[in-house]
Amino acid sequence: MMLEAERQSVVDACHVMQNKGLVVGTAGNVSIRVDDLVVISPSAVPYEELTAADVCVHRLDGTPVEARLKPSSELPLHLSVYQATDAGGITHNHAPASTAMGLVCDEVPCSHYYSAMFGGPIRVAPYAEFGTDDLARNVTEALAGRKGALMSNHGAITTGPTLAKALDLLPYLEYICEVQLRAMSTGRPVKTLSAEQMADAGIGISGYTPAALNTDKS
Ligand code: 13P
Repeated sequence: MMLEAERQSVVDACHVMQNKGLVVGTAGNVSIRVDDLVVISPSAVPYEELTAADVCVHRLDGTPVEARLKPSSELPLHLSVYQATDAGGITHNHAPASTAMGLVCDEVPCSHYYSAMFGGPIRVAPYAEFGTDDLARNVTEALAGRKGALMSNHGAITTGPTLAKALDLLPYLEYICEVQLRAMSTGRPVKTLSAEQMADAGIGISGYTPAALNTDKS
């Protein structure tokens, strides 16, 4: 079996998402890029039954290389992000706070300095049907200069140089959205951080590039 270690990493990442309560049922998918190949979770297989052999290997153009099962319906999304960025890993989920936040705003403001981990305010990609090229395009655009985005009426996505790094970001994205939702639910104005405060915070966060920060004072 080719890319056995990467396939096992995909299975392990799915189990982490499940164990941390970041997925509902079989919703969500993860992938790793290895040169011009993408190692991606299969569609709709219960995570507790998932094995490395079930994980699909496709070329960057989508052609199957070693895939006994149907790949994730979000294969076009993963391919599009890999084609547009230097990401090495992607996670996508439907956790409640990030999904809810995507229903009430077009951008999550920098109310917590953890937003620096993502390169600034997190954009919400406009809705398009799951699995479509339209969704892939909208989300790829929302990810420009960012390591995470929300997907309107759908869920969330994180990217990283490796799948492990993308997976590490997923709970932070959910936390940022949960905090923002709770603050908004008070009906009081929500305090946000200035670009300077965000840049200062970013310098202290490993793997973060201050240059990627949006300098708008919004
Ligand atoms: P898959 O099981 O096909 O990956 O679909 C789940 C999902 O998250 C769709 O957006």
